[in-house]
Amino acid sequence: MRRLCVIPGDGIGREVVPVAIEVLERLLPDLQVEEAEAGWGCFERRGMSVPQTTLASLSACGAGLFGAVSSPSHRVEGYRSAILTLRQELALNLNLRPVRSRPRVSPRQGVDLMILRENSEGLYSGREHWESDGVAIAERVISRSACVRLAAGAAELARLRNARRITLVHKANVLPLTCGLFRDTCRDALAEEGWSDVLDERLVDVAALQLVACPEAFDLIVTTNLFGDILSDLASHWGGGLGMAPSLNLGDAIALAEPVHGSAPDIAGSGRANPLAAILSAGMLLRHHWRLPALAERLEAAVDVFLEEEGSVDFGIGTTREVGRGVLQRLG
Ligand code: NAI
Ligand code: MG
Repeated sequence: MRRLCVIPGDGIGREVVPVAIEVLERLLPDLQVEEAEAGWGCFERRGMSVPQTTLASLSACGAGLFGAVSSPSHRVEGYRSAILTLRQELALNLNLRPVRSRPRVSPRQGVDLMILRENSEGLYSGREHWESDGVAIAERVISRSACVRLAAGAAELARLRNARRITLVHKANVLPLTCGLFRDTCRDALAEEGWSDVLDERLVDVAALQLVACPEAFDLIVTTNLFGDILSDLASHWGGGLGMAPSLNLGDAIALAEPVHGSAPDIAGSGRANPLAAILSAGMLLRHHWRLPALAERLEAAVDVFLEEEGSVDFGIGTTREVGRGVLQRLG
């Protein structure tokens, strides 16, 4: 029996997650769903952003769906970002962020790429301190072991999508130690797996330009934590924007699906949050965690048919409930 731990979180996370669960339950009628808490609201209620019970529930289920959480942009004593805590505590070392052109809502057709983002270190190491008055330091950690893990994930994804190109994105000209270690380790490991012929590399600034100018030239992008965060928001434009962008955090035994967007306080409560990013994230659990590609394809096809019939380029695709109902109808 399959189990899923659901963490709605804050803001629109609470609005889009129930819709994604309804879609998932239609495809997996025997799915056992349990709800857990995390985020800013949880911190305000209980003094912690991720309770132990949430970690235990996710570990026991092996699969999770996370909505979004709010984080203050200043330091709050005792608060740690819930999603960063989950990624670190559960060793969710990889982050898969696919971007595909979708009917009518995408400003450009023909884009189909995957950004594989390192998810445990880099500038998200949490090692920030004041060196002296007026000088703050953040440490960017790159380890060979994390790069080896990332490259193994990249090789697996490359096999899955029969990759025509793998692009390592870094900034080794300015950061020769950290980015050099990343590039060399990933390059050697992928070459050993037989991918030399399609292996390529780009400096992150040029990669950003090319993702804007010719996104269809990319297939699988492999990069560090912060670069992956930024480039995936940029690339999500081609898939129809943040409301359409799914992701999956992946560890050895646990997968946590998560729409790329945040808690969107500007539209929370209006009923107009797009649930498709959450629905497509649930589809990534089907494909990559439960290994049910036929069901993942059914979900994606229902989304595409819905967009084909009811989508529009100005993103006016309806309320959260209307979109959910529209996708459910097309699942049959
Ligand atoms: P955001 O992703 O919440 O919103 C950015 C813009 O996109 C807003 O105008 C919002 O209305 C729109 N948007 C996002 N998702 C949408 C959807 N599903 N449908 C329609 N429109 C959507 O990013 P922002 O505003 O920078 O951050 C808000 C809060 O979310 C902050 O507290 C931030 O820390 C947190 N955050 C959390 C993340 C997570 O939980 N993984 C990721 C990013 C931000
Ligand atoms: Mg982001």
